[in-house]
Amino acid sequence: MAWGCKALVGAGLLFGSASIVAADADAGRATATARCIQCHEADDWDGEDAASLESLIRDIVAGKVKHRQKIELSAAEIANIAAYWAQSSK
Ligand code: HEC
Repeated sequence: MAWGCKALVGAGLLFGSASIVAADADAGRATATARCIQCHEADDWDGEDAASLESLIRDIVAGKVKHRQKIELSAAEIANIAAYWAQSSK
């Protein structure tokens, strides 16, 4: 992996931004641990697949699905968290 490049990209953006091609479950864990873990464990989502989690979280961020608190995530962060939660529920 090209760390120099990753660091440059990461400097301007938050978690997971280096992963443009595919969702990055490790970055998702970092984001979820920082911002969701006080209320959600990864195994809350037992049996959910990444695609449905991703669209659910997207709807929450867009305000279409009610949530306890407003959450703000980039599209990449949403994909990464969905990948992490879907993976860790298996
Ligand atoms: C302050 C507590 C809190 C935090 C922090 C929090 N949530 Fe939630 N979330 C809730 C509660 C409460 C529910 C409703 C649980 C239920 O219905 O069983 C919920 C439900 C959800 C649902 C399911 C919604 C549905 O209608 O099925 C998703 C997806 C979700 N949260 C994602 C997230 C993500 C992603 C984060 C982090 C960025 C996050 N939450 C952070 C409290 C929180």
